[in-house]
Amino acid sequence: MTGHEVRPLAESEFREAHDLFRRALLWRPSKDEEWERNSGRYEPGRVLGAFVDGALAGTAMATTNVVTVPGGRRLPVGAVTGVGVRADRTRRGVLTSLMREQLEDARRRGEAVAMLHASEAVIYERYGYGVVSRSRTVELDRRRAALREDAPVGGRVRVLDQDEAAPILPAIYQRCAQDRPGQIGRDDAWWAGQRSWLGDGVLIAVHTGGDGLDDGFALYEATKADDVNALQVYDLKSANATAAVQLWRFLLGVDLVDRVVGHGRPLDEPLEWWLADRRQCRVTSVDDDLWLRLVDVLEALRARTFGPADPVVIEVRDEFLPHNDGGYRVGPDGVDRCSDEPQLVLDVAALAALYLGDQKASGLVAAGRIEARDPAAVAAADRLFAAVETPWCGTNF
Ligand SMILES: CC(C)(COP(=O)(O)OP(=O)(O)OC[C@H]1O[C@@H](n2cnc3c(N)ncnc32)[C@H](O)[C@@H]1OP(=O)(O)O)[C@@H](O)C(=O)NCCC(=O)NCCS
Repeated sequence: MTGHEVRPLAESEFREAHDLFRRALLWRPSKDEEWERNSGRYEPGRVLGAFVDGALAGTAMATTNVVTVPGGRRLPVGAVTGVGVRADRTRRGVLTSLMREQLEDARRRGEAVAMLHASEAVIYERYGYGVVSRSRTVELDRRRAALREDAPVGGRVRVLDQDEAAPILPAIYQRCAQDRPGQIGRDDAWWAGQRSWLGDGVLIAVHTGGDGLDDGFALYEATKADDVNALQVYDLKSANATAAVQLWRFLLGVDLVDRVVGHGRPLDEPLEWWLADRRQCRVTSVDDDLWLRLVDVLEALRARTFGPADPVVIEVRDEFLPHNDGGYRVGPDGVDRCSDEPQLVLDVAALAALYLGDQKASGLVAAGRIEARDPAAVAAADRLFAAVETPWCGTNF
């Protein structure tokens, strides 16, 4: 069953939506202070509610943001979050109705893409979202993970509590490389919301470079389980390699710690290259990071640059947003719609996997997600879509 009443919620309904979302994630409803810190993320007009028998049954919202695409352009994007359906109203199309309205709204706003992080990998592909970046969890045995003598060195690290760090973190984040595909903005409402998720024990190490500028930070928390003292590093951003190494050097130098765990790290972080023994960097998981939906395929493709290769004609299939269905000629000199015989045929979620350069066309052909009608086009598509830098978002929302 689909076609529930879906409408933007009034501000007076935002907290009910927030608590419905929290319950869907199996969390208790928000305390007043938690709601206050999160309320700024609820943008009037972008918080949707779906109603069954006149009562709120599900919700989804988006916050207005930007995302970097290959070539460095920062595209306007809705960051989809707060998605939940009451446990007694699931599997009757409530989310589908919300997704349809949300994507239509994104189109009306002129946003060529939409993005999210997924609680489960099986939910969003049916709406055309695909994984555009991945991240890894790394574990280091603190006593054995020595840095190489030639690893970058310089500046100094100081530790701040959350109140001390709050005023300076946004400016440091701004200074960190924003030109990597998948990077997004963090506005004041994001920082306020983040505070409500952090435990009291979270501290912030800040690196100051030789020029006196703060150029990196690490949010971390000490935990103890099975007699192992660990530092959980939730967020580490740096404007340069020296700041990154110095933050890791600091974390690996904290007394009494057995293990340092880095969560959601970029796949290309060169930790192995900074360690005297590269095997001390143990990758314990590789997970999907950012998911993207090409809302307007033509505009989204035109926004990024492409590598040097012959143009390729692709046919995109998009059941959820049929205006995207059809042929596109993609080349380094531009992208146009076309009606030529397609060389590659793929659905819009598979196109998303190529979009920031996370996956290669040849890999998706091998996986059966791209039909290669002209095998010669596969290598060209690999070169066209290749990104110079590995995509990574690294910001939860
Ligand atoms: C995920 C969630 C929002 C789905 O809502 P819903 O209203 O049940 O979704 P729909 O009924 O519109 O589902 C559409 C399709 O997706 C499938 N689907 C949706 N969620 C699924 C899940 N978690 N696992 C497997 N299949 C799922 C449905 O079976 C249905 O398939 P069909 O079209 O073949 O019948 C809801 O289950 C929920 O609130 N989960 C807990 C909170 C959560 O994970 N939120 C997402 C945060 S990113």
